[in-house]
Amino acid sequence: CGIVGYIGAKPASNYLLEGLFRLEYRGYDSAGIAVQSGDTIAVRKKTGRVGQLAELLKASPVTGTHGIGHTRWATHGQPSDTNSHPHTGGNGEVVLVHNGVIENYATLRSQLQELGYVFHSQTDTEVVAHLVAHQLEEELKLGADPESNATYLRAVELTLKQLKGTYGLGVLFRDKPGLLIAARLGSPLVVGVGKDEHYLASDASPLVGYTDKVVYLNDHEIAMITANSLEILHRDTGSQTPHIRVLEQTASDTELGQFEHYMLKEIFEQPTSIENAFRGRLDDDEATARFGGLNLDPQELRRIDRIVLTACGTSWHAGLVGEYIIEEFARIPVEVEYASELRYRNPPMSERTMVFAITQSGETADTLAAMRECKRKGHPTLAICNVVGSSIAREADGGIYLHAGPEVGVASTKAFTSQVTVLTLLALFMGRIRHLSYPAGQRMIANLRKMPDKIRQTLECHNRVKEIARKYYTAENFLYLGRLHNFPVALEGALKLKEISYIHAEGYPAAEMKHGPIALVDEETPSVFVVPRCQIYPKVISNMEEVRARRGPIIAIACEGDDKVAELADDVIYVPDVDEYLQPMVTSVPLQLLAYEIALLRGCNVDRPRNLAKSVTVE
Ligand code: G6P
Repeated sequence: CGIVGYIGAKPASNYLLEGLFRLEYRGYDSAGIAVQSGDTIAVRKKTGRVGQLAELLKASPVTGTHGIGHTRWATHGQPSDTNSHPHTGGNGEVVLVHNGVIENYATLRSQLQELGYVFHSQTDTEVVAHLVAHQLEEELKLGADPESNATYLRAVELTLKQLKGTYGLGVLFRDKPGLLIAARLGSPLVVGVGKDEHYLASDASPLVGYTDKVVYLNDHEIAMITANSLEILHRDTGSQTPHIRVLEQTASDTELGQFEHYMLKEIFEQPTSIENAFRGRLDDDEATARFGGLNLDPQELRRIDRIVLTACGTSWHAGLVGEYIIEEFARIPVEVEYASELRYRNPPMSERTMVFAITQSGETADTLAAMRECKRKGHPTLAICNVVGSSIAREADGGIYLHAGPEVGVASTKAFTSQVTVLTLLALFMGRIRHLSYPAGQRMIANLRKMPDKIRQTLECHNRVKEIARKYYTAENFLYLGRLHNFPVALEGALKLKEISYIHAEGYPAAEMKHGPIALVDEETPSVFVVPRCQIYPKVISNMEEVRARRGPIIAIACEGDDKVAELADDVIYVPDVDEYLQPMVTSVPLQLLAYEIALLRGCNVDRPRNLAKSVTVE
């Protein structure tokens, strides 16, 4: 879901609507805004796309200089006008928008009903609205000052203490015009700082063009926002000095900006897209990962004794990486199934099997069908998905979003590394409710946090990749070879090359090569070895020797300073050294760039390769 807010001197609805358009990729089954003028808060909300809300606002405009807005991806309660946000609490004293999931909403709902609160929707959010109204009423009864912002802050704080789950909240108070309270736990929120005005949004994209000064809220922080003041309070440490950052984003996600192609732009976005995949999901206190939308409690999750990952194309490769990591850290058997096969097979699956459909678009027909088949058989079936509101996101029992932003290039790049990031978080989470120790969890968190920088360093190989591409772009066949975590990377590297340059390429486990593909090795066929330092590094080196003995040219992806590989390979692309399980995120980047540069040299349409589609909605 997406949240926006505005408080200042301009008509609020302009920014709110524009912001919702920009956040529509986060969810679009319904949208709404609330705008306050004096002690009147006017709410307009509607099922459907933001465009439909814009129509409604034309027919029925709202005026006021502060307000909140929301674009929804339904979690609790189907998409409908009443289930849309904003939601109203008490007798209209409180109006709010919410992202996230309130896990204990059912209990809170019955408690509030006993107190006489009347519910109009099936959402978990309405519980929060009534609870804030209730706490406010209690505070006022105890003599709190209705003129003081502190009274309203307290009502929100008391509410948050009772919530289990995740939230990003924007709250308006009928009797306190000029105040907007925002709170965050697990769902991102950013405050835009203007001159005598403030903005609120789920991510920075709506702020572009309005202000370049932003404050990212951290978990357990509350922002008290007026037109000319911003106060941030942390649950444990109290008042915080707002850390204002300058927003570097200038163009919207779907503009090419400085890049010649979307594919290149998306390759270079990976430091940020990876960070977005783990932002708000790392729990330092518990040394684990946290997800808002799995919709399974720890008890149910602990019962799971097998995981099936199903997907197509690049997403399937991400699943293979996930298999290694989940088995290693969570010690749960994992199988990775082509969705197109799984939908027609009937493998025995116990009721303790959990299924994840991995998909960038959320629309791939085979993945959807495989997911439905698993759901029909009663398995908890979740999605790891980028596109909010897509069919798979809607039909899954729950899931994890990538938050990678729109991916336009047909050959998937940033979605792959984001999927791998999310699968790593899943391994951490499932590990920590089973065998994984606290220090091991902490180490994983620390390492994950370093990844955006490691990817930045990796991208510095671009010029080197260009040189290598010039040397090999006329080859008609390529082999891609890697072992363990880097075997799926070899598959993905070969797929990237095939997709956009139309060169035949095969990805193989490096050791398996001698059982067939080695027959292809000759002076004209380059072998790309993915050979960063790892447990079986000497074995991969032996595989390289085998290719070299047959005079096959070798391009190696290796860790910085690896002279041994340099001796054996014709060309080396160096990448930073990271722990083995994190290597796929790093080693896949030069392979994306290699495919891109080779395709360019061959005059191919990189962003729209022949015969392919971004989203394959037919079987
Ligand atoms: C198409 C795209 C691929 C993608 C695959 C799966 O083939 O061209 O880039 O990997 O579909 O798509 P999904 O959206 O389900 O990840």
